[in-house]
Amino acid sequence: MSRHADDPSGLRRTLRRLPALAGDLPVLDPASLPADPVTAFLRWLEEALDAGVPEPHAVTVSTVDGAGRPSSRVVVLKDVDEQGRWVFATDRRSGKARDLGTNPAVALSSYWQPQGRQVRVTGTAVALDADECAADFLARSPASRAAAFATRPGEPLPDVATLHVALARARQHVDAHPDAVLADWVVYAVVPEAVELWQGSGTRAHQRVVYARDGDGWSRTLVWP
Ligand SMILES: Cc1cc2nc3c(=O)[nH]c(=O)nc-3n(C[C@H](O)[C@H](O)[C@H](O)COP(=O)(O)O)c2cc1C
Repeated sequence: MSRHADDPSGLRRTLRRLPALAGDLPVLDPASLPADPVTAFLRWLEEALDAGVPEPHAVTVSTVDGAGRPSSRVVVLKDVDEQGRWVFATDRRSGKARDLGTNPAVALSSYWQPQGRQVRVTGTAVALDADECAADFLARSPASRAAAFATRPGEPLPDVATLHVALARARQHVDAHPDAVLADWVVYAVVPEAVELWQGSGTRAHQRVVYARDGDGWSRTLVWP
């Protein structure tokens, strides 16, 4: 039983007392930002990597379905490619892929807690061609490939034992056929329309800089937090 289940005001007290944006956060000098948001994002990602931030490539992806219902989930960022697109991969049968099939509008957000930094990318997701999806699939570990073969995303699972049996079977399949590719594996590249860098501050003088597509280049605007 949760220690807050019978004491909602205790939960509110606990949440209110939790610090956010504590610690020694970097200060953003907007003038020092590069002209394009990809370089800016990569600079912050590298700083997160150098600082040992756990899983700095975990990115929240938000989509909307045909009825306009939104949903979010975390994926792994696989690349920011030469065309300046944010790349992630998933199963074509998943909810997010279904959403993107009817509405390719997408938002991504990264949060690097120790630095109090958030980046939001909004844009359009494009599915890469079959060869690129296959290459990405084959670059995954045998365990990850087996998990992809075993699963039926979002379908009811009768019990956990069934999952373990399916994983073991799929692992045998992957070991016997190391070139086997899951036809449902899909890689999406998100073409950004806007990228916002947000630098939190302990004094609450947070800073936001919004890059927006402007012809072949980018505009860059400092906005109120
Ligand atoms: C750290 C982390 C990384 C994940 N990476 C991926 C990923 O790269 N691709 C993916 O399809 N799901 C990934 N997942 C699982 C998704 O969050 C999600 O549960 C799953 O894709 C089904 O989502 P959907 O039904 O909304 O499409 C990851 C979850 C976590 C917590």
